[in-house]
Amino acid sequence: MYGLAQFWQSTIGKKIVMAVTGIIGILFVIGHMSGNFLMFKGQGAMHDYALLLRTSMPLLWAVRAALIAAVVLHALSAYQLTMRARAARPADYAVRKPQVTTLAAKTMRWGGVYLLVFIVYHILHMTLGTVHPQFTHLDPYNNLRIGLANPAVAAAYLVGMLFLGLHLYHGTWAVFRTLGVARPSAQPLKRRLAVVVAIAVAAGFAVIPVAALAGLFPEAPAMAEEAH
Ligand code: HEM
Repeated sequence: MYGLAQFWQSTIGKKIVMAVTGIIGILFVIGHMSGNFLMFKGQGAMHDYALLLRTSMPLLWAVRAALIAAVVLHALSAYQLTMRARAARPADYAVRKPQVTTLAAKTMRWGGVYLLVFIVYHILHMTLGTVHPQFTHLDPYNNLRIGLANPAVAAAYLVGMLFLGLHLYHGTWAVFRTLGVARPSAQPLKRRLAVVVAIAVAAGFAVIPVAALAGLFPEAPAMAEEAH
């Protein structure tokens, strides 16, 4: 226990926690984005998928708990590392000219905060339905088709996907650096895996609000809730 507390207190310990929870997040978004493509197969496929996710409620809750813990630990270590960096240098540099930086690196903190707010909103919107105008339990096809046809809502999702792409680009690379797998590189374009993950995930998610806005998902009657 003492060893664990000491690990968490250390700066490298927090960075490793960020890296491991970040990997959990990367795997989750790749899986979630792939599942979303069932929208193009139709209402039945999305419904079956929703049922599949609920095959075992104890397992679903274990996964939910692990994901919540990962998000909380990821955000908490990011916050504490930021505070440590600030305390170590209370006055900013008179001239700050990093050798290499990218838009992604610069938006990690505020983009991360947007993503945190987005996740809470998204769960209220698509899982609980509290902020959805026409939510039907276990009918994710219509929930997405109708919910994302509102331009303001679709825009909030698309901004989220933009920040997610930037976050993944910088984060995927940072994971390798923290865990010592990749050598330092001054050439951001060489971060091929990071580029592929970022673009594939952001674009893969973004096609759903874009298709909903364009009216590409055929209308379907709401599924009767009492049937389940
Ligand atoms: C356009 C992008 C996205 C779409 C269309 C989408 C779609 C959905 C849908 C339909 C559900 C409800 C599934 C069900 O209850 O059967 C859901 C749940 C969820 N989504 Fe997304 N999602 C998107 C982006 C994201 C992102 C970027 C994240 C996280 C970084 C995320 C995290 C979650 C979580 C945590 C849940 C709750 C799962 C649960 O019930 O425990 N989603 N999403």
